[in-house]
Amino acid sequence: MPDPAVIVEQLKALAASRDLEGRSILVTAGPTREPIDPVRYISNRSSGKMGYALAEAATRRGASVTLVSGPTSLPPPRGVTLTRVETARELRDAVMEHIRDWDVVIKAAAVADYSPAMVATSKLKKEAAGDSIALELRRNPDVLSEITALSPRPLVVAFAAETEAVEENARKKLERKNADLIVANDVSDPSIGFDSDFHEVLIIARAGSTTRVARATKLVIAHRILDAVVERLRDR
Ligand code: CTP
Repeated sequence: MPDPAVIVEQLKALAASRDLEGRSILVTAGPTREPIDPVRYISNRSSGKMGYALAEAATRRGASVTLVSGPTSLPPPRGVTLTRVETARELRDAVMEHIRDWDVVIKAAAVADYSPAMVATSKLKKEAAGDSIALELRRNPDVLSEITALSPRPLVVAFAAETEAVEENARKKLERKNADLIVANDVSDPSIGFDSDFHEVLIIARAGSTTRVARATKLVIAHRILDAVVERLRDR
């Protein structure tokens, strides 16, 4: 039986108002996969659950939502336009192609910072490689920074997965990447984040305020993030 407090929060989330009616929102979600050869890739532990919850919550609140998703096993939320991508570069192209269309961009995807400099066209074989191999990695484009360099630009929500000095590191990232809000979480806690249905985050606004959202389902967290978005849209 789920905790009654969790049920109450879920009901509140379901009863959310349609305060995003008329807004178009792009959400990125999930990991990216950077190929090494036809059968191997570099990826990360993102499940996509937070991004999918955001897409679902924004749709319920009346927004027109596009979800650009890396590989996940999740069903797309009803009413959302889904574009599937694999690599960081594909994600960048899908996001930037129609960037002028969005009022809000929420960057929940765990975009790989690096990808293999060369992708082998046939499977790498041990006989040829020997006991050790060196993989040269190159920096991927920073999609978030590309968006925030535009003028005019959409309202931008960034994510920061940190293992130490969570608030301090996330605030630095918010400033460095010139985002409007950043959602920070501590990835060293195994009971939340990644594949969990629960999360616990800090929502840090550029204007200075930080809101701590205690452990809740990702759908509830998504609604709290959207509350902060609605507030910022009002100030614009
Ligand atoms: N991001 C992006 N493009 C990248 C890498 C990250 O748009 N190539 C976005 C992510 O979607 C996320 C935010 O930037 O919203 C922060 O990602 P993160 O990798 O934590 O930030 P970095 O500045 O790369 O910092 P770190 O050195 O901690 O990886």
